[in-house]
Amino acid sequence: MTGATIERVVDPDPSVLAELGRYDAEAFGQTGLRSFDLGVVAHVGAIYLLRVDGVAAGSCQLLRMFDEPGMFWVFGFYVRPAWQGRGFGRRLLSYVAEQVRQAGGAGLRMSVSPANRAAIGLYEGFGFETLRLAADFYGPGEDRYLMEWRTSSAGRHSAGAAAGLTGPEAPGDRRAGRD
Ligand SMILES: CC(C)(COP(=O)(O)OP(=O)(O)OC[C@H]1O[C@@H](n2cnc3c(N)ncnc32)[C@H](O)[C@@H]1OP(=O)(O)O)[C@@H](O)C(=O)NCCC(=O)NCCS
Repeated sequence: MTGATIERVVDPDPSVLAELGRYDAEAFGQTGLRSFDLGVVAHVGAIYLLRVDGVAAGSCQLLRMFDEPGMFWVFGFYVRPAWQGRGFGRRLLSYVAEQVRQAGGAGLRMSVSPANRAAIGLYEGFGFETLRLAADFYGPGEDRYLMEWRTSSAGRHSAGAAAGLTGPEAPGDRRAGRD
C-alpha cells in the first residue's frame, strides 16, 4: 500500500524553499519559481506538498486573487515525473479543492497551455471549465486557456473526490515552460 500524504508547507526554512525550487525547475524549466518566489507564495498564499512514502512527489501553489478574493489562483501544480500517471494529480487537486471549500473560497482558477493534454484532461475530468483562450497571457505567443472550478459545482467532481491510487501508466509529457 502506498502511503500518500498531503500537507501545507508552513514557514519553510531556506533548505525547503531551495528543494521546492528544484522541483519547480524540474516541472517547468526556466519558468519555474525560484526560492524567493516560493517564499512569497508560502507566506502570502499557500503551498501544499504531496509525499509518497515520505518522498516529495508533487506540489500545488495557491494565491488569493485581488479582483475576486473568493477565488484562488493555482500558480503552480505538478506531480514529479516518477509519480505521474498514478492518480496522484487527481488526489492532490481534490485535496486542494477541499481546502479552498473549507476556507469558504468560491473556487480555483488557473492558466493551462493548450498543448498540455495531460493537465487539461486532469482539470476537465475534475469539473473545471474553460473560460477562454487568453492570447499572449505570459508574453508573445504564450497563449493560455483560463480554466475555472467553483465550489458550488463540487457535486460534479466525483472523479476527483473518489480518486484513489491506480496502477502505473505512461508518464505525462514534461512541460518546457510554466502553464
Ligand atoms: C498534469 C499532471 C499534474 C497530471 O498529474 P498525474 O498525477 O500524472 O495525473 P493523474 O494520474 O492523477 O491523472 C488524472 C487525469 O489526468 C489526465 N492525464 C494524466 N496524464 C495524462 C497523459 N499522459 N495524457 C493524457 N491525459 C493524462 C487524465 O485525464 C487522467 O485521468 P484518467 O487516469 O482517468 O485518464 C502531471 O502530468 C504533471 O505534473 N505534469 C508536468 C507539470 C504540469 O504540466 N503541470 C500542470 C500545469 S497547469
